[in-house]
Amino acid sequence: MATNWNPDSWKSFEAKHLPVYGDAAKLAAAEETLANFPPLVFAGEARALKADLAEVAAGKGFLLQGGDCAESFAEFHANNIRDTFRVLLQMAVALTFASKQPVVKVGRMAGQFAKPRSSPVETIGGVELPSYLGDNINGIEFTPESRIPDPDRMIRSYSQAAATLNLLRAFATGGYANLRQVHQWTLDFMGRSPWAQKFAETADRIGEALDFMAACGVDPETVPQLQGTSFYTSHEALLLPYEQALTRRDSLTGDWYDCSAHMLWIGDRTRFEGSAHVEFLRGVGNPLGLKCGPSLAPDVLLRLLDTLNPGRESGRMTLITRFGHDKVEAGLPPLVRAVQREGHPVVWSCDPMHGNVIKADNGYKTRPFDRILTEVKGFFAVHRAEGTHAGGIHIEMTGRDVTECTGGAVAITQEGLADRYHTHCDPRLNAAQSLELAFLLAEELNLEASDRARHAA
Ligand code: PEP
Ligand code: CO
Repeated sequence: MATNWNPDSWKSFEAKHLPVYGDAAKLAAAEETLANFPPLVFAGEARALKADLAEVAAGKGFLLQGGDCAESFAEFHANNIRDTFRVLLQMAVALTFASKQPVVKVGRMAGQFAKPRSSPVETIGGVELPSYLGDNINGIEFTPESRIPDPDRMIRSYSQAAATLNLLRAFATGGYANLRQVHQWTLDFMGRSPWAQKFAETADRIGEALDFMAACGVDPETVPQLQGTSFYTSHEALLLPYEQALTRRDSLTGDWYDCSAHMLWIGDRTRFEGSAHVEFLRGVGNPLGLKCGPSLAPDVLLRLLDTLNPGRESGRMTLITRFGHDKVEAGLPPLVRAVQREGHPVVWSCDPMHGNVIKADNGYKTRPFDRILTEVKGFFAVHRAEGTHAGGIHIEMTGRDVTECTGGAVAITQEGLADRYHTHCDPRLNAAQSLELAFLLAEELNLEASDRARHAA
């Protein structure tokens, strides 16, 4: 357990990107309400995820983490939750089937609300207002009232997270994720994507394998693993009053866990030494992500790992690198070498989204799909060269047929962005682009496996 730590010790550290609430009494009341609500996840589940991630760190599995950039109150709907879950399952099936590796599935869901913003203010038509910080803090409408941070939004976020998690648990274990259903997971609009056809072929072959196994007496009735799946939740632990209020002592071990999600990560803007966010997360037992961007020096990373994982527990740390398509090949090796040299057990995961944002000519914030793929390929190439495992992917995606990232097999043009641009923050991959990415990942994982086999021979 962390020494000299308690759930509010972060308050004497430097906190960036936290809202300033005008009404202290209202904040205290919201915190107290949350502190009395039931935890959203149990410590034992966070430990199960940590054990799964320890396997990935050891080179025996792959982490698939994805969901909205920012969940919103407006987009809260069962169909949206189902569609995102379904695309993550499709991606996992494509990856597992092609690479023969277990895939650990973690949603950016059920709590991914708060956003660090590059500017504290937004100016439209000469009017300047505080920036939108996420639906758990203020409103996206461009009015002075809406942009005032409101602590009660944390209560609504908790309720939305609870309902989302409830549906995800039902989907994961209540029959929807049964491998016999893979054909039913195909989305109508996916028909336009050539990757939908490839997925249907994979589904056929899985069906054949299941028929064969059933004939041998192995079926969902006898093997419960075929009926459902494990699915975990995660978000950036940015809004510390919310995270603190949901932090509980585990009755089995006596350790503290942040029970707002199974896994929490620290963003690239809040992972500096002396940060309140680092201080808070070092004391909770959950598996942690750490975003690593181009400005992170190897020695700082090593000190952060010593702070966050002094016991060098495997599965505790996932390093989510987000360099940009043109920076990954030069920027990643120094971090990988430093971590290898010091023997820190980590999962290396690739976030090909946050280093590849551009502004389209018509003003839309977008991410060209080819740059996303280039960063993924660069990430795998670096790990092949260093002899380390490319262990995961971290993406902003949705099961909806949005037009937010340009490119892909059903090519979205810059002009086409306006058609269905719905994100509350950064542009997301749509279902077809996500599946296309999964097939590329499967190919890259197979390259890594044949490289390993060659070295072992
Ligand atoms: C995010 O994941 O939404 C995010 C803000 O990423 P980063 O901290 O890597 O910029
Ligand atoms: Co984002």
